[in-house]
This record gives sequence, structure tokens and C-alpha cells, in this order.
Amino acid sequence: MTHNGSDFPAGATHVVAIDGPAGTGKSSVSKLLASKVGASYLDTGAMYRAVTLAVLDSGVALDDPAGIARIATDVDIELVPDGDGSKVFLGGRDVSGPIRTEHVTSAVSAVSAVPDVRTKLVALQRQNAQGRFVVVEGRDIGTVVFPAADVKIFLTATPEARAERRHKQNLAGGRDSDFDAVLASVNRRDHLDSTRAVSPLRAADDAIVVDTSDKTLAEVLDELSALVQARIGASER
Ligand code: DC
Repeated sequence: MTHNGSDFPAGATHVVAIDGPAGTGKSSVSKLLASKVGASYLDTGAMYRAVTLAVLDSGVALDDPAGIARIATDVDIELVPDGDGSKVFLGGRDVSGPIRTEHVTSAVSAVSAVPDVRTKLVALQRQNAQGRFVVVEGRDIGTVVFPAADVKIFLTATPEARAERRHKQNLAGGRDSDFDAVLASVNRRDHLDSTRAVSPLRAADDAIVVDTSDKTLAEVLDELSALVQARIGASER
């Protein structure tokens, strides 16, 4: 049984929460899973990246939480479905490319640690999922944003496996890449994301933890779609 918007009575919200650190294959698997089970896809990392781009463009310093909070309050972010993924608009401008640059990646942990930024984006994420069947990808989806999600998955992999994936993606994309530097960056972001005061990265107590280190994308996708069909399919019957 597959689900799409029309399978559900109006107002029914079904959430598959997918959390975990960068480099676990989370984005690829979340997009494919959404498409496979007939759900929408919500990339919450893209929202934090869009606010970060707005902060960088404004000239507000990364060590000025009040300034960052002001920018976050004013920004207009929109995620529009595009193929298996989504395009991100900031004040009507398509920023899907610019939010993936190293400039933004290296600043996003500082911006996403500001409580007012999280409050604004969590509200936006809840609003976005309202009345829909949605796969939501992030860091705090099962713990904070949707603590009553139908399915909670936490993807993990060793730092080396994650750095190796990033390194290969860089090379495949024609970008210079040094494995040791990528590994150091993975470890740095993990540390910042898991030790921040607000909504640190951790698995929810009731999350299913899936280690992707030695699994192919197809294997992880099969495992997750079976979990979703079992949980959500069963509750719908
Ligand atoms: O998934 P990503 O790499 O695009 O996420 C970018 C950053 O945003 C990541 O370093 C942590 C932050 N983030 C967050 O704090 N909470 C989320 N729900 C999603 C992302």
C-alpha cells in the first residue's frame, strides 16, 4: 500500500523522522524513501543553510546571536518540490546552489546554535508537515520537532566511512579534496552539533538506529521502506 496526499483524510499528519550526522547517506536515502513510499520530502538542513546564507549576506557577525536572531525573524524561506528533492528560495531568490557552498557549510553550525533561529524554523517545519505524509530529514526531528512521529530513524556511520563518502562526492563533482581535511571537518561539525546547548544531535530514545557504514544506498532504502510500510501501513488498516 502506498500513500500520497489523497490517501489520507484531511488533517491527518504522518511523519517519518530521519536524523543523524552528515555523511551517513541521509539526504540521498530520505529523498528516495519519500518518493518510494509516496510521501513529501522536507529537508530541514536546507532551511538552516538558507538562514545562514542570509546572515552571511547581511554582514552580521557569526558571534552576534542577537543580530543572527534578527535576520532569522525577517527571512522569508520557501521549499518547493523539485524532482526527488526540493529547491530553496530566500526572499523569492533560488538559493539551492549557494546554500551548498563551503562558505555556508562552515558557518551553519554557529547559526543553527542560536535558539531564536531554531524556534522560527521548528515552527515552519511543523506548519509545512501539517496534514501531510512527509519524510522529514534533520538532526532534531525525532527528539524536538516531531516527538510523536510515526517512525523515527537515526542513521549513523563511522567518521571514516562518512568522510570517505564526502571525499568521493567532492572528487566526482570535480572539487579538490583532501581526505584528512574532510575527516577533520566531519569531526568538527559532529562535535559542534552534538554539544550545542539547544537541541543537540542525539537519537531519540524510541528511534531505530541504522548503521550505514557497510551498507549500500539500496540496502538502506529497502530497510527503511520496509519499516515505514510496517508502521504506517499497519496503522492505516
Ligand atoms: O543536513 P545538512 O548538512 O544540510 O545540515 C546543515 C546544518 O544544519 C548542520 O550542520 C546542522 C544544522 N541542522 C540542525 O541544526 N537541525 C536540523 N534539523 C537540520 C540541520
